[in-house]
Amino acid sequence: MSDLISIEECENFPIEKIWDLYRHYVSGSQVDLIASFGFGRDVSNYAEGCYIYTKNGDKVLDFTGGIGVLNHGHNHPRIVEIRRKFQEQQRMEVHKNFFSPYVAALSHNLAQLLPGDLDVSYFPNSGSEAVEGAVKMAYKYHGGKRQYILHADISFHGKLMGAASLTGSPELHFHFPGISGARKFEFGNIDSVRDVVAELRQSTGGSDVYAIILEPMSASSLRECSAEFLLSLRELCTAEDIVLIFDEVYTGWAKTGSLFYFMRHDGLLPDIVTYAKSFGGGKSSISGYTARTPIFKKAYDNLHDATLHSTTYYGFGEECATAIEAINVVVEENFVERAQNIHEKLRDGLHSLQNKYPDLIEEVRGTGALHGLILKPNRAGEILGNLTKTLPSNFFKDDQLMNKIVTAAVIYELYQSHKVMTYYGSNREIPLIAAPSLIAEDSDVDWFLDALDQSLSLGFVKLTGKFIKSKVLGP
Ligand SMILES: Cc1ncc(COP(=O)(O)O)c(C=O)c1O
Repeated sequence: MSDLISIEECENFPIEKIWDLYRHYVSGSQVDLIASFGFGRDVSNYAEGCYIYTKNGDKVLDFTGGIGVLNHGHNHPRIVEIRRKFQEQQRMEVHKNFFSPYVAALSHNLAQLLPGDLDVSYFPNSGSEAVEGAVKMAYKYHGGKRQYILHADISFHGKLMGAASLTGSPELHFHFPGISGARKFEFGNIDSVRDVVAELRQSTGGSDVYAIILEPMSASSLRECSAEFLLSLRELCTAEDIVLIFDEVYTGWAKTGSLFYFMRHDGLLPDIVTYAKSFGGGKSSISGYTARTPIFKKAYDNLHDATLHSTTYYGFGEECATAIEAINVVVEENFVERAQNIHEKLRDGLHSLQNKYPDLIEEVRGTGALHGLILKPNRAGEILGNLTKTLPSNFFKDDQLMNKIVTAAVIYELYQSHKVMTYYGSNREIPLIAAPSLIAEDSDVDWFLDALDQSLSLGFVKLTGKFIKSKVLGP
């Protein structure tokens, strides 16, 4: 077995070797997609706080916030310490026959932080698993007697087959079989929800809808539901005994300037809330969902049904210990306030850039440490549009293509010339997303805003030219 690669060896691989192994053993298309961005050509050496340090000596500002995972930044010292201690003390990971003090404490702490009787929690590993667990509980709550579940036309709930079937995003363009009885309503439009609910009645006249799942703020499109919509939705669900699930996998743990997005509205309470990402403090893949006590009790809390839902890694010791510390850091280091401060600075800065570049920026959107820009491809779009009309590939029929190219070109420039890492959201529109970790300081936001200003000053024709050239010359 001398051909097996050791950790030491792989940590010293040059990027070309990593691409080569990806092409053979992971996915060649991933190399083609990501290596065209500067960060796909660098290798990270280590990461700390808001920064990634590359092997070639660059310090990169990570303004992606790990796409929701890194509210605490990279390698937060308290998170690293708790994991080190757990290992040194040889704590037990998981054992079905022992009760876990970590599961007990984590569930308790969640109940303290979440409003109302959102008190009973379960901890799988990914966001999609949390979503599917919540949906399954809602179905069981109704004893299998209702058939339908509603989701928004603009939504992202994950890519497992069940979660994907509840997702309304052009990114998931291939039709897989999924959860039966999934129906759509228009994001943020209560009349649309009412119409679909009214249509789905049982012969007895009762509702045939067991659950409605919604991101109260859609992280991929940066659209927010109004307070009026959310409170009316709550009222409708209560009246029809429909289980209301808020998916806060991305927006949880203070990202948007409140502990969970829904908590900014007094009196608003889902029946189940799902979370993941920064729940693991940037080190652990743990997710969760918390249900109102009556929902959980009716669904599962009897000896016959107690094991109807479980997964192997449920409540893994080190992961739960990490989540306990991650939440404590969120509270003790005032992440809510930090997100609000980032909001002020980022929003003001982005609005000034919109005033400075009205031909390039269509809209500034977002809240807390989750903001973005919708760009206007304009002249660059015209040039590219004419060019691509002559090409036969289906790829060029994507009606978001121009926006994707222009936004990708800005992301490329931000990294290549300013060592700032951002990403774009892929849903109905293609926002360029600025979503820093909540430990970001004013100087980090300034670094990003200056870099964006200098990048936009080049104009889209030049930016897309540079980006396309890099793709042509790419690996
Ligand atoms: C709102 C939301 N729900 C669910 C998911 C799926 O989570 P995972 O990718 O961990 O399965 C995501 C992932 O980005 C998300 O943003």
